[in-house]
Amino acid sequence: MSGGIALRLEALSKEYRVAGNSVRAVDGIDLDIEAGSSVAIVGPSGCGKSTLLGLLGGLERPTEGRVWFGEVELSALGEAKRAALRRSSIGFVFQSYDLLSFLTAKENIEFQLALTGQASGNGRAQDLIERLGLDEHSEKLPDQLSGGQRQRVGIARALAHRPALILGDEPTGELDTESSVAAMDLLLEAQKALGATLVVVTHDADVAARFGRVVSLRDGRLAGDTRGELEGSEADA
Ligand SMILES: Nc1ncnc2c1ncn2[C@@H]1O[C@H](COP(=O)(O)OP(=O)(O)OP(=O)(O)O)[C@@H](O)[C@H]1O
Ligand SMILES: [Mg+2]
Repeated sequence: MSGGIALRLEALSKEYRVAGNSVRAVDGIDLDIEAGSSVAIVGPSGCGKSTLLGLLGGLERPTEGRVWFGEVELSALGEAKRAALRRSSIGFVFQSYDLLSFLTAKENIEFQLALTGQASGNGRAQDLIERLGLDEHSEKLPDQLSGGQRQRVGIARALAHRPALILGDEPTGELDTESSVAAMDLLLEAQKALGATLVVVTHDADVAARFGRVVSLRDGRLAGDTRGELEGSEADA
């Protein structure tokens, strides 16, 4: 996965219309994200971070401009094709983790594998459970887990199918410092092990500092783009 461009944004805009008013949540963004790199997206509340992430992951379509996922123009695909691509190639980690409440921790992870046609994934779910320290909790339902445990299940689920692209929206937003560091360790470790591209929205400067590149937004536009020392080595990992 290293070397090429994982995501290319061309003059990307997203406008929402609510009750006669329009908001340009993303306003003419051009950006290339290298395959195998790690990027943090930062900026004030309402500047368009979640909207941008939704466009990158094909959850939404832009009003103008394009999103390329490798050689595929994601923004030109209809909902069914975008859904298929999301299932096969993208792992999402959201703040709420949205686990399925009627499935156990392990079943939530297995469900993700089943969606991509990997029934038991040859022990993949069990392997992630062990690596994330969830052995004692694998048979529990989400509401029998603590917030941090739910989050680890959410991360395991996002990584289960070995996605080429991992997207996180405030994945550590509700955690204390120690759990947040541990969760970021996992995401960065998984990114390197999979050679995946990792793009995470965060409010937390300590979290952002661990990424190879930090992109800042303001009013839907690019306001900064800083590369750290890690970038070269991560792109080759
Ligand atoms: N579905 C929607 N319909 C209408 N307006 C929306 C919608 N989603 C977002 N917006 C508006 O678009 C702008 C950007 O929102 P977005 O959620 O992308 O910001 P954000 O940077 O993620 O903020 P936060 O840090 O608070 O999560 C805001 O003005 C928001 O009100
Ligand atoms: Mg947001």
